[in-house]
Amino acid sequence: MARNWRQSIHLEPRNGWLNDPNGLCYADGKYHVYFQYSPDSPKGAGRKCWGHFESSDDLKTWTYTGIVMEPDIPEDRSGVYSGCAVVKDGIIHIFYTGNVKLPGDYDYITAGREANQIHVTTKDGRTVSSKKVILRNSDYPECCSCHVRDPKVWIEDGKWKMVLGARTLEDKGCVLYYEAEDPESWHYVKTLSVDDFGYMWECPDQFDVDGKVFLGISPQGLEHEEYRHQNVYSSGYFKKNGDELSDFEEFDYGFDFYAPQTFIDKKGNRILIGWMGIGDIPYSNPTTELGWQHCLTLPRKLSVDPDGFIVQMPVINEELFGESEEIAEGVTAKALLACDISVRFDSAYKITIGDAVISFDGEVLMLDLGKGASGYGRTVRKARTGRINDLRIIADRSSLEIFAGGGRYVMSTRFYPSDAEVNITSEGAGFTVRPVREMEVKGFE
Ligand code: FRU
Repeated sequence: MARNWRQSIHLEPRNGWLNDPNGLCYADGKYHVYFQYSPDSPKGAGRKCWGHFESSDDLKTWTYTGIVMEPDIPEDRSGVYSGCAVVKDGIIHIFYTGNVKLPGDYDYITAGREANQIHVTTKDGRTVSSKKVILRNSDYPECCSCHVRDPKVWIEDGKWKMVLGARTLEDKGCVLYYEAEDPESWHYVKTLSVDDFGYMWECPDQFDVDGKVFLGISPQGLEHEEYRHQNVYSSGYFKKNGDELSDFEEFDYGFDFYAPQTFIDKKGNRILIGWMGIGDIPYSNPTTELGWQHCLTLPRKLSVDPDGFIVQMPVINEELFGESEEIAEGVTAKALLACDISVRFDSAYKITIGDAVISFDGEVLMLDLGKGASGYGRTVRKARTGRINDLRIIADRSSLEIFAGGGRYVMSTRFYPSDAEVNITSEGAGFTVRPVREMEVKGFE
């Protein structure tokens, strides 16, 4: 069917605009996935709310339950911005930023903006308690501009801990740490930053995987390079040793990835979900004229490789997979999207999916959407991977997520093939492909 761009295994809104994943958690036998939602406009204008999906614990049957928070107090009147969830004693504690843009002639960086951190609780994930402001502009260090947001909270050694993203008055990105004995009485602890690393750090996330601690950030203002930081804004993580931040590595080298958040699933795994999109992009998404824009990435299970870097692998309920088929090198397979492609190769390799070309020359992994029409302005993204021997590609109706080198390097992109069936061919090795059935998403009727 032409123009069938509704995703089959990715969460997306029926109408309007989606951005960051928010409040990810597993509570009382259910997964909760909230998201930044502008229901009034596929371009992101109008009210900024939290939409909500939940899944019984199979991750293949979802329900969209509607908007759970919208701007309705003075402290969040310009937007219910990003935040997180912490589950304690059966209660989901939600922390988010209430954005306020005061009317007037301001730069909205050094003046004219309030950033209020707000706490609510919910038992069922759908109905939240009244909103309580826990931090205001006067509670941030003097070096901060008005841009302070996106609280990520966790409990460690019986203490509540929070990290916030911020921009200083000298246009330096940083994170602020706060601590509390209970979820409402916070005090400032410290600021961490890195020189020459952007003017604003959004959506921080401090988390551990396999006993190692990481600080994820989405920095704005990094210099673009041929193999790194190719997008308008970036997203990646530092290894964190005490207060030392080192070895920044991007979570994803594709065109469409930003503002990820992690949480712990029912088995104790660290799972990451990102926004498969970025703000202020120079290319476009044709679903906008059909009434909606953007989706979330697949959930990805994180682990750590021997060099201390994060590896990511997609989490898809096994029951969604169909029969695998082996396709020999040079043979053209016709595959209905969504599908799951796996390949192992020795040196150079190239696979073409519709008009998207993914190649590896022994040193660099390249995604080229510039040859055809389905990229809608997207051209080339590269990652200097060194030697890798495998790719796993999850192609949905309008996206590709490429996991290379066992998931050490990832590239995510939207693409918009004109048909739900694509041709796939490869050079350098054969591949395996299996269909992926559509998830059930209720609640949009
Ligand atoms: C990141 C971001 C966050 C903010 C939210 C607003 O994409 O800019 O910093 O809280 O989006 O929708």
